[in-house]
Amino acid sequence: MEFAVSKKTLIALIILVTISFYITFLFNSCIVSNISKGIPQLRRNQIVQEPLMHYSTSVRVVSLIEGNETDISPKYKWFREQGLKPERQLPSALIIGVKKGGTRALLEFIRIHPDVRAAGSEVHFFDKNYHKSFQWYRSHMPPTLEGQLTIEKTPSYFITKEAPRRVQMMNPSTKLLVVVRDPVTRAISDYTQAKSKKLDMKPFEELVFVNGTVGSIVDTSWGPIKLGLYYKYLSRWLKFFPLSQLLFISGERLITDPAVELKRVQDFLGLKRVVTERHFYFNTTKGFPCLFKSEGHSAPHCLGKTKGRNHPYVNPTVWQRLRDFYRPFNMRFYQMTGINFGWA
Ligand code: A3P
Repeated sequence: MEFAVSKKTLIALIILVTISFYITFLFNSCIVSNISKGIPQLRRNQIVQEPLMHYSTSVRVVSLIEGNETDISPKYKWFREQGLKPERQLPSALIIGVKKGGTRALLEFIRIHPDVRAAGSEVHFFDKNYHKSFQWYRSHMPPTLEGQLTIEKTPSYFITKEAPRRVQMMNPSTKLLVVVRDPVTRAISDYTQAKSKKLDMKPFEELVFVNGTVGSIVDTSWGPIKLGLYYKYLSRWLKFFPLSQLLFISGERLITDPAVELKRVQDFLGLKRVVTERHFYFNTTKGFPCLFKSEGHSAPHCLGKTKGRNHPYVNPTVWQRLRDFYRPFNMRFYQMTGINFGWA
């Protein structure tokens, strides 16, 4: 009798357990199918795997990693785990200049944002490689998932005559970022870079003036000087893009307060404010802000040796002459942009 009762109980228990397993199974299936309903809108390519219920055995993770770049965001990691295939896109934002303004710093800082993917090196499409087609340009972009913005920087775009029209042809809503810096220090920085490659270059003071005589006319045909006439190049861009599509970043503030400039950049690009003060520290040895952690680096990361070079001594009279020379052009640039950069 005792055995018969416990047998019945046992059978009842088995039935109960089976039913509860079945209910749990149905419930889980329902959750999974609801998740998978949300996925198609994320797809730009087909999902390359079996139905979600079989993830544990047949998921194929599509690698986003190229070279030493990593994608650490949990959101995109999850996307990858769902098998979403990243695709290369033409950039929707460009850092167009200016040379020696701090363009590399800006790119390195913004690319730690998980929604941003950047072409590693300068592609020079709109100046030197335009004949190679948009397909070629796209092949130089990093693979991205839906929601990630592609950005490229080539500082010579700012001064390339054909670039504004060409960029407009690619996409008239391209967002344009310009890092500007005091044209006098920018010229010295430009000269310092050139001299590092050509050691027998004449002193800066000689190259600045026509005839090489201190006090004579400033030589506006000399690249490092000419490039500082920002208003001239900007007027070309404004023929093709409204001012609202350009963001001017202060090269000086990018050094003294990178987080403030990055806040502006993220707002302009329509990104969540992810890059903040927490990402930066001032490296007293280098004399520049560095990143606590950046894409592809798990350790603190400063820009390389070619960024933040020591400048040669420049005669104060020459310095003052250049300040006076640039003042009216700077004023014009301030009027065009509506920003006083405080250079003169
Ligand atoms: P210098 O090397 O003359 O100091 P670009 O990347 O456009 O070529 O600009 C180089 C300049 O970026 C450097 O010029 C430096 O002043 C500036 N810069 C801005 N932020 C920097 C940073 N965090 N680390 C190094 N250089 C930085």
